[in-house]
Amino acid sequence: MPRRVPPAAGSFDRSAGVYDDHVAFNRDGARRLVASVPEGRYPRLLDVACGTGFASLEAIPRLGVRHVVGRDASAPMVEVFRGRLAGMPGVTADLRATDVLAMDVDDASVDLALCTMALHWFADRGAAVEAMARALAPGGVLGVLAPGPDHDRLTVERIRAEDDAMLDRLADAIEDNQVDPDVLAGHIASAGLEALDVWTETRRRAVIPASYAARLEAVASHLWSDLPASGQQDVVDRMRALLVRHAGDDGLYRYAFVKTFAIARAPS
Ligand SMILES: C[S@@+](CC[C@H](N)C(=O)[O-])C[C@H]1O[C@@H](n2cnc3c(N)ncnc32)[C@H](O)[C@@H]1O
Repeated sequence: MPRRVPPAAGSFDRSAGVYDDHVAFNRDGARRLVASVPEGRYPRLLDVACGTGFASLEAIPRLGVRHVVGRDASAPMVEVFRGRLAGMPGVTADLRATDVLAMDVDDASVDLALCTMALHWFADRGAAVEAMARALAPGGVLGVLAPGPDHDRLTVERIRAEDDAMLDRLADAIEDNQVDPDVLAGHIASAGLEALDVWTETRRRAVIPASYAARLEAVASHLWSDLPASGQQDVVDRMRALLVRHAGDDGLYRYAFVKTFAIARAPS
């Protein structure tokens, strides 16, 4: 499907230094995904769209990881991750900035592949799952975490009611980013993997509008990268005003984030 927006990695190039401060919920999701990987030792890990390394940092102590292959389209995100791994004795790493579909990982070379909060940005999600499946050794495990169906629906409805073409880009992205569990299960089956579990979780959140807006700036600034800096700031300001307008009497903005999870295994 043709892209309607500039590649997402541009947002992450800009936000690499502050990304971790604004996406604590991503880290919680990575933790729940890693906790769902079957017990065992997985010495060779592939972290696809590794970002600053949330998923790997959860997997290393729990799953006996000794070598991390990390790939991400954003070089600044990879560099943050490289710095983190440098402080971990006994863990070697091969980290590179590259698109997922050109990730250059040997077939059957890893025991575990993780892809957290990134599949939704890929131009061809099915091909990306196939590439991850090819990298798995026999019996290897794949774990995927992505936004799920109807995620942040209230925010989409509130944006649509504004009749603001620039804010509509955000609503379009929230909708395009949803990964349906059945569709993901289809990609997993087409890639020759056996789905062990595919599920969704819904978390209702109440946050201060500024923290919701800061997360958006960290992950979605590419949506307006064609505008001059002042125009980009105007859009963010309008979004912040919308969040404040829809906050409750306690000043908190409420929304529901749905996440799709999948755990699958390569044939032995
Ligand atoms: C929301 S971050 C998630 C990072 C990390 N996995 C986590 O759980 O925090 C999405 C990541 O996907 C990367 N990304 C987006 N499109 C990509 C692509 N086509 N190929 C590789 N990485 C991509 C971005 O650069 C960014 O680091």
